[in-house]
Amino acid sequence: MPDSIVTAYEESDVLDPRTDAVRPSVPPVIKPVDLGSVHVETPVVLSPMAGVTNWPFRVICESYGPDGLYVAEMITARALVARNPKALRLCHFAPSEKIRSLQLYGVNPAIVEQAAKIVIDENMADHVDLNFGCPVPKVTRRGGGSALPWKTDLFREIIQRVVKVCDAANVPVTAKIRVGIDHEHETFLEAGHIAQEEGCRAVTLHARTTAEYYGGHSDWSRIGELVEALDIPVFGNGDIWGANDALAMVAETGCAGVAIGRGCQGRPWLFADIKNAFAGCDKRVDPTLGDVCRVVERHAELLTEFYDGDEQMAVHDLRKHIAWYLKGFPVGGSTRRAFMECENLEDVRTEIGKLDPDTRFPERVVDKPRGRVRFAKKVHLPYGWLESRETTHDERQALFGDDPMDASY
Ligand SMILES: Cc1cc2nc3c(=O)[nH]c(=O)nc-3n(C[C@H](O)[C@H](O)[C@H](O)COP(=O)(O)O)c2cc1C
Repeated sequence: MPDSIVTAYEESDVLDPRTDAVRPSVPPVIKPVDLGSVHVETPVVLSPMAGVTNWPFRVICESYGPDGLYVAEMITARALVARNPKALRLCHFAPSEKIRSLQLYGVNPAIVEQAAKIVIDENMADHVDLNFGCPVPKVTRRGGGSALPWKTDLFREIIQRVVKVCDAANVPVTAKIRVGIDHEHETFLEAGHIAQEEGCRAVTLHARTTAEYYGGHSDWSRIGELVEALDIPVFGNGDIWGANDALAMVAETGCAGVAIGRGCQGRPWLFADIKNAFAGCDKRVDPTLGDVCRVVERHAELLTEFYDGDEQMAVHDLRKHIAWYLKGFPVGGSTRRAFMECENLEDVRTEIGKLDPDTRFPERVVDKPRGRVRFAKKVHLPYGWLESRETTHDERQALFGDDPMDASY
């Protein structure tokens, strides 16, 4: 099926970085949020990130942070229904995790419902989030992720079916959305209303469009609009790089909670900073390279557990994290390469042993953008996707074939 290209953007770095957020003069109050039967004492959320928020990383973030939500990376409904071992591994939670938050992704309502049924029947989670925010071409070209809310019938049906299954077990369902496909095709207000009508307990808004991908800014004013429009809690998302950003987002938008993605990559202690900030305390974590290396080592050990003792898989998974952990530190290219060539825990420990533990955390990367920061080159959608807001019979037939996300497992 040919792709339709709705908008073309040049790849570019962050064009206009948000100036450092200033702590609001009156610190905003963030109140506990009840998602149905699930009490979230401090609605600070580790935003789901594919390839990042498996339980080892969640456990590390939660060890620093408040009693919030630490969400697992998206699990493809079809892969779960097929009992794909890699998908099943992603459904694991550590005993220390207080609220087991799992995110499902899918396009076919019947398959997403089946996946939710597995989650419920096998008591896999305490909270289910639905992914309607992914901008990745292989997802949107099949009508998934952030392309999906455009088709209001499909969006409604997925939520309806999942809520029905989860409600029976008192498991709350939430939805994660973007502003829309682009600014000519915004969906967030309608999607928020549908989510609310169909029983979602909260909505998270990443205030970018699909076309914006990870470039430019998350436009927090849109979060404020959604807060005004809905009765259910809205969690704001996008561009929280430091604790002051979290305070500023709540102050500016009135959102009930904040979701943090890239800002904690290689900086899981950001959750401690945010916890302190919402408690009205100015204390911030200022780790040395030695402190960071202890986190790296712990991360490597937990990943080894995650991969059932397979150290090689663990240290390969760790590579991207190491790049983030070392970001900005005066560590040479050969050392970075040596970390990338580690094949077991001992190799990682050896490389750690070569670093100067007293090196201070580099000022220039504190609370600054990290991870993906680019615009999309173009938005890929199924052929004729934007012509109507509802799916035709033929469109459904075409959409519900093989799901490309299966390939990622
Ligand atoms: C590497 C990566 C993987 C992501 N995977 C997911 C995912 O599985 N599910 C999802 O809803 N969002 C995913 N996101 C989006 C984040 O949850 C978040 O909405 C986005 O990064 C904006 O927040 P931030 O500015 O705090 O990073 C991912 C983002 C990144 C950078």
